[in-house]
Amino acid sequence: MTQRNLQGILGCIGDTPLIELDGLLRDIPARVFAKLELANPGGSIKDRTALNMLLDKIRSGELTPHRSVVIESSSGNLAIGIAQICRYFGLRFICVVDAKTTGQNIAILRAFQAEIEIIAEPDPQTGEFLPVRIRRVRELLNDHPDGYWPNQYANPLNPAAHHQTMREILTTLGGPPDYLFCATSTCGTLTGIRTYVRENDLPTQVIAVDAVGSAIFGDESRRRLIPGHGASAPPPLLVADSAHRVVHVSDLDCVVGCRRLMAREAILAGGSSGGVVSALERFRGRIPAGKTVVLIFPDRGERYLNTIYSDSWVQQNFGEVSHLWKESGIAAAGRH
Ligand SMILES: Cc1ncc(COP(=O)(O)O)c(C=O)c1O
Repeated sequence: MTQRNLQGILGCIGDTPLIELDGLLRDIPARVFAKLELANPGGSIKDRTALNMLLDKIRSGELTPHRSVVIESSSGNLAIGIAQICRYFGLRFICVVDAKTTGQNIAILRAFQAEIEIIAEPDPQTGEFLPVRIRRVRELLNDHPDGYWPNQYANPLNPAAHHQTMREILTTLGGPPDYLFCATSTCGTLTGIRTYVRENDLPTQVIAVDAVGSAIFGDESRRRLIPGHGASAPPPLLVADSAHRVVHVSDLDCVVGCRRLMAREAILAGGSSGGVVSALERFRGRIPAGKTVVLIFPDRGERYLNTIYSDSWVQQNFGEVSHLWKESGIAAAGRH
């Protein structure tokens, strides 16, 4: 987001590469590009969201070092994005996580000197951690009169961050793509992009990629293994007509998509990027020849080495699936 004149590491947020993927799906008649949000310095698209929710408050003096406290419930990419910005500006950050948060993410947050509050027990009624985490955020806000809760689930600055994501795509391509595939959780990315498309009367078809077992588009919430995308309830940022189509992908689809991306394009991406790849594969029969497709890859793959990229984890959770590697061209690794 260079137009913000940011210094230091924060100047590396946004303006991510858009690269052409010519080896991913060999028989697709369209040109396929990937927006590498994994190239943001905190490792994900959530750097943009964190920056947009904090920067104006920091610049206006509403948030000041040694006085203000940023308080948020997040165990993943947003937490890391906020932790980086708070560290840069010397702001205190209390991050409410839960027992399911990976040790690696907690270690990253601690490295950025975030203070961690771990919720050990889920809500006894629903079995979900989220309501307990939000209750704890509210308690902390009561205890800290200078506390600020960015609240990514309801903050309009979350989707607003992604008008810039879309502007970057248009600039690099020299025009709008025909199709854009986008993973969903808070729906900040989807709503931001869809709003930009509508307001600028662009012909782009926006395809939402949600997890099987996510309740965003009305399904029943079920246990999911891959973190990042999906949600246990429709988020307040989801607007009517937010996507032209919705494609649901399973945990295994995400694994297969990630492995294919690695085998064919040498890209180490996170689970939802694999979901987007699998969604394109399923959707490709509907894409006419000569069209342009953009896939948004939200985060990088290092934080999934013990899951998606671990053969034993895959076997433990999905059984013997090596035939899938052959069927989807993963076994014959490489593009040539
Ligand atoms: C890896 C990953 N993919 C997809 C998403 C979905 O993004 P959004 O919250 O903008 O819907 C997130 C959100 O945290 C994420 O971490």
